Amino acid sequence: MTKLLLSIHVIAAILAVGPIAVAASMFPRFATQADERSAAIARVLHRTCRGYAVFGVAVPVFGVATGAQLGVLTDAWLLASIALTAIAAAVLALVVLPAQRRLLDRPSTVTRLAMTTGIFNVLWAVVVVLMIVRPGSTTGA
Ligand code: HEM
Repeated sequence: MTKLLLSIHVIAAILAVGPIAVAASMFPRFATQADERSAAIARVLHRTCRGYAVFGVAVPVFGVATGAQLGVLTDAWLLASIALTAIAAAVLALVVLPAQRRLLDRPSTVTRLAMTTGIFNVLWAVVVVLMIVRPGSTTGA
């Protein structure tokens, strides 16, 4: 059961967070072009980020289920991961997605959006390393 939950958790992380990271990183480049084709691509990238963000809810859901099965929910590495996941989700939902939406409606500069998107991606990278290294964990290698 734990292996099934963990498999779903990791598959969801790869298939949901991966596309968001790529689409969000490509967005600023297309959103700043004036031609209609670039604008259409920017709209698709924004929809990709939004759609996969909904699917991405499966990552913490199955992560918490896996943690409960393993009895590690109160381990420091996992609490830190949960906190960072919450921050990353908030950056996506409250900062990156609204900023993308505003840019689609009214083109302007993207420096800030590129920065917050970068922060978002770094947060995921940190969580993945925490998931694998599990500092302080005594339950296996
Ligand atoms: C609320 C947030 C999360 C919780 C509660 C959670 C929980 C867990 C748990 C309990 C494990 C099993 C560790 C073990 O085998 O002892 C795990 C593994 C893993 N998680 Fe998460 N996770 C969360 C978020 C994430 C996120 C955001 C990602 C990626 C973007 C991620 C990627 C992974 C990966 C790749 C593994 C496999 C690591 C390994 O077994 O070596 N997790 N997670």
